[in-house]
Amino acid sequence: MIRVRKIAHATYEMPDVEKQAAYYTDILGLTLVAKDKSAAYLASTVDHHSIVLKNGAQAQCVRLGFQIAPDDDLGEYEKQVKAKGIKTARKKDPEPTISDMVTFEDPKGTVMEVFKRAEFAEQRFPTKGIVPYKLGHVAFHVTDVKGITNFYCDVLGFRVSDWMGDFFSFLRCGPDHHTINLMETGSNRHFHTAFELRDWSHLQTACDYLSLNGYKLLWGPGRHGIGHNLFAYHRAPNGLITELFAELDRMNEELGYFEPRPWHRDKPQKPKVWAKDPSASNLWGIMPTEEMMK
Ligand SMILES: [Fe+2]
Repeated sequence: MIRVRKIAHATYEMPDVEKQAAYYTDILGLTLVAKDKSAAYLASTVDHHSIVLKNGAQAQCVRLGFQIAPDDDLGEYEKQVKAKGIKTARKKDPEPTISDMVTFEDPKGTVMEVFKRAEFAEQRFPTKGIVPYKLGHVAFHVTDVKGITNFYCDVLGFRVSDWMGDFFSFLRCGPDHHTINLMETGSNRHFHTAFELRDWSHLQTACDYLSLNGYKLLWGPGRHGIGHNLFAYHRAPNGLITELFAELDRMNEELGYFEPRPWHRDKPQKPKVWAKDPSASNLWGIMPTEEMMK
């Protein structure tokens, strides 16, 4: 099976992209690398874009870009998807630096964009703003967590890292504990988009920077049980929730367990089903505000 290896970018629709782009550049510290009539492309590191903003009626995540490995064949991948009875499209030069792409929809209607990265960008890390390492994961509210989890595993090659009860799945496509997470809540919509920071001190600097710029945290800082990442959530001016995190569990795929850490309770820490217990959400004890679920 050909598996996707990393999340490359996420595309959002929202009203007034021109104005909203300022949050991504001035607050998050991404670089605006390209802008055309239909989209603003924001980068962090070797990828030309990790966030794409497009004009639309409401703020939502509409597309996710995933990379396959350099030796994988995109045509073979498309066959693999079609064999599951899924309708695909093939696009040449669909986005800057992406020459060939297979697209299809996941069961909730988000467009998957699978491609091979042939050309790397060379923008530097900016010196202003929070400046994350990278786009880490995108989380969704879903109506059918089992069905969509199976889709990501069977069609894109994700692996299950953990479940909370039977309603919240955490899925990986590389060493990071999760790249996609899906929480069954009765609707299909964006939950949060997460960016990886260096460490605890970077998270502190980021929280102070947010505060100085008028942003309030929705939840955190804390340490999640599942994934064990340090976290802090806030809401962007466009209404979408952003998570900043560090110290997310990393999987040693050959050994089947996460790299040992002092805060782990299991030795070794392996994928499992966690009870719906406050410590699965925050080992430090403070539970999310109601605002987090809006
Ligand atoms: Fe998250």
